[in-house]
Amino acid sequence: MVNREPVSIGIIGVGGMGRRHALNLHNHSGAGYVSALYDLNPVNAAQTAAECGKPRVFDEPLALIHDDNVQAVLIASPDASHMQYVMECLRCRKPVLCEKPLATHPDDALKILETESALGQRLVSVGFMRRFDPQHTAVKRVLSSGSLGKAILYKGTHRNMSIPYSVSGEVIITNSSGHDVDAARWLLGEEVKEVYVCGVRSHAEFSADTTDLLLMQLKLSNDCLASIEVFVSAEYGYEVAAEVVGEHGTAVTAQPAPMVLRQRQSRFSPVAADWLERFDEAYLIEAVEWVQSIHRGQIFNGASAWDGFMALKVSEACIRSFRSGHPEAVSAPERPDFYRL
Ligand SMILES: NC(=O)c1ccc[n+]([C@@H]2O[C@H](COP(=O)([O-])OP(=O)(O)OC[C@H]3O[C@@H](n4cnc5c(N)ncnc54)[C@H](O)[C@@H]3O)[C@@H](O)[C@H]2O)c1
Repeated sequence: MVNREPVSIGIIGVGGMGRRHALNLHNHSGAGYVSALYDLNPVNAAQTAAECGKPRVFDEPLALIHDDNVQAVLIASPDASHMQYVMECLRCRKPVLCEKPLATHPDDALKILETESALGQRLVSVGFMRRFDPQHTAVKRVLSSGSLGKAILYKGTHRNMSIPYSVSGEVIITNSSGHDVDAARWLLGEEVKEVYVCGVRSHAEFSADTTDLLLMQLKLSNDCLASIEVFVSAEYGYEVAAEVVGEHGTAVTAQPAPMVLRQRQSRFSPVAADWLERFDEAYLIEAVEWVQSIHRGQIFNGASAWDGFMALKVSEACIRSFRSGHPEAVSAPERPDFYRL
């Protein structure tokens, strides 16, 4: 699709993430504009519409997807709704950026892959925004230059202050660690073959069934490894870090901070409170580049439906390993040629 006019975008779900995407597109994308919104909660839709140039507010999500004036769709509604909306976008042959996860079960993501492949057109993208974070892209550039030689090991840290829902290992794997798995796959350029996950309760006062600190070990193709800590009650802030160890050195994401404060024989850098603050730039770059790719008729450089599917396959194996206490294989088909850029 080559489009010379600004792309008209419909957004479904304008809570925390959807509102952020809507504001980014409204305020920063010359290549596109927010033309339509839908949210199950009309108050949320009305509030975001007032902030984004008063796009048309729909009272039915499929009507938004079908509308001839909507050329592309961004989905930021709850996880369970993603599959249905993405499939409807494919039926209408409209580009769609779906927040992670692509679906709630790998079999549903596989249906999306099969439908998209049958259309012969890459339309689906998944919101793994670390691929646009300047710190992560700097690491990726060094790896791609070849100066570190073969990348061998990904070491990831993912910490939240606290999360507002009851925490089990399964919840962390389902809600949080998909980003880490995607970052490991993307930076190393390899597929995950085996996982081993264990976890503990970090605070004695938490309920006995809590698991809020997970360690995930991944074996990837081409003799690569990943080691990932996901800790959702770290208290001090929200922090994500990635280091890739190569044959000739390592590359690690610098921690972004607006300033360094020196006071009382100490040096402080503030730490972000949450993902919206830490990945502020990444969300903006992701949304703008997605719209630009549609405008130019190019394949988007972000995570594809294949990446969304693989994140779910790896999560499925992680949950099995967390429950069994043993390493578990990731059984997935070979990446189809259609999903090689
Ligand atoms: N990429 C990231 O870093 C990131 C971060 C947070 C959330 N997410 C994902 O974004 C999505 C939204 O998360 P959030 O934090 O914005 O949640 P949220 O609860 O803040 O917002 C969800 C919005 O969707 C609306 N909604 C509920 N059911 C709906 C439906 N069936 N159709 C349309 N709208 C519906 C709600 O009224 C609400 O306004 C989730 O899939 C989540 O996993 C991604």
